[in-house]
Amino acid sequence: MIPLSLAQIARVTGGQLRHGDPDAVVSGEVVIDSRRAGPGGLFAAVAGERSDGHDFAAAAVAAGATAVLATRPVTVPSVLVADVPAALAALARSVVDALPAVRIAGITGSSGKTSTKDLAAQLVERLGPTIAPAGSYNNEFGHPLTVLRADAATRYLVLELSARGIGHIAYLCRVAPPRYGVVLNVGHAHAGEFGGLDQVARAKGELAEALPADGVAILNADDPRVLAMAERTEARVVTFSSAPGSDAPVRAVDIRLDDLGRPGFTLLTPEGSAPVSLRLHGAHNVPNALAAAALARELGMDLDGIADGLGAAVARSRWRMEVHQRPDGVTVINDAYNANPESVRAAIDALAHLAQGGRAFAILGHMAELGGTSRASHEDIGEYAARIGDSGLAGLIAVGEEAAPLLDGARRVRSWTGEALAAPDGAAALELLANRLKPSDVVLVKASRAAHLEGVAAALEGEAGQ
Ligand SMILES: Nc1ncnc2c1ncn2[C@@H]1O[C@H](COP(=O)(O)OP(=O)(O)OP(=O)(O)O)[C@@H](O)[C@H]1O
Ligand SMILES: [Mg+2]
Repeated sequence: MIPLSLAQIARVTGGQLRHGDPDAVVSGEVVIDSRRAGPGGLFAAVAGERSDGHDFAAAAVAAGATAVLATRPVTVPSVLVADVPAALAALARSVVDALPAVRIAGITGSSGKTSTKDLAAQLVERLGPTIAPAGSYNNEFGHPLTVLRADAATRYLVLELSARGIGHIAYLCRVAPPRYGVVLNVGHAHAGEFGGLDQVARAKGELAEALPADGVAILNADDPRVLAMAERTEARVVTFSSAPGSDAPVRAVDIRLDDLGRPGFTLLTPEGSAPVSLRLHGAHNVPNALAAAALARELGMDLDGIADGLGAAVARSRWRMEVHQRPDGVTVINDAYNANPESVRAAIDALAHLAQGGRAFAILGHMAELGGTSRASHEDIGEYAARIGDSGLAGLIAVGEEAAPLLDGARRVRSWTGEALAAPDGAAALELLANRLKPSDVVLVKASRAAHLEGVAAALEGEAGQ
């Protein structure tokens, strides 16, 4: 980050300096995990569910941190504030204001933010020094911490913006006002907390509203709720589309998937066309790639650079559509990072594609935070799984009580000949699968973050894997 003295930090955050030299400088990273505190850094102490960061204040300073941002007195150099996220936000905003040459892009949507952010970052990095978060880092903590990594050398910030309610994205946009805003889709992720899709659209559209008149709103023309955000922005609107017959300026045609489900397509822009082959798996990465392409194009990247960059981009964040081929011929799709109805459908589509020469199995945990539509949503996904491809999945294993409605939905499909299996936990799911799997079978593992099915995926990948 740009060097700031403790006196400056106290002023910007409205905090009080304790036990510290006002001229001592913070120039290292701002962190909320004391184990990551390093020389010249600032450790923000947060009280979590299991532990309280204040207990690690001394350890952070011993590790080299210049000071601690705290809400109660500690015995080491510190700036006492009323609210840590608010203080981080104020600090981040002051850094943004001090770096007017930095161009800021925000990416939001219900699904695909991290995937798109990782793609976009790998393009934009070719244009100049870029800061983008690792993983999701998209909330009132991760967002300012990412922004605070910017310094005088930084040219681009590529940020992921998440919302769990109305006003959240507007807040993040005040912390680091984006000139470029990408909205991917409006789906059911956290829809229960929002109270329905229209509320989700209201929240995600706050990004469009926050853009200035000389900004650019990059909107998915294939999602009507996203396209409607064109009415809510002063910025110039650029749309992207992967739907046949679209006249969006940035679009994909001739979309095809290779044997491992990796999309290839022709990228069309007003400047011309170029072939693109993604290294990422699943057709849902086509809109993500188009969004990244549209952003890079607005930042001045030429078509060949975009096509080349997209073809070189790799998955930077774990457990999102990782395709692992075991020596025994079984393929494992580890998409265990998270789940909502749209992303489970996308993953089942990819599973069906990969399993064209064999049988498809899915180990699915529950989709969290869907509110009143939870049971019906699970049943619908189960039905979708039973209808996919020629004859539906060979086996659907639902992990945990809350995932059981998946099986009810699958059983609604009378013609389905696959097996509906209930497993109380991941270990039981692995056991059920173990004596069923044959070479050339494909297994998808997916659930909400809370279910932690990545361990199941890892076990499957490892089995007969070395
Ligand atoms: N455009 C898309 N449409 C539907 N599903 C998608 C799309 N992009 C990614 N996914 C699926 O959603 C899952 C999460 O992807 P990703 O982490 O990129 O989303 P996110 O929006 O960052 O999620 P979070 O809200 O948890 O941060 C992936 O495992 C993938 O299966
Ligand atoms: Mg994310």
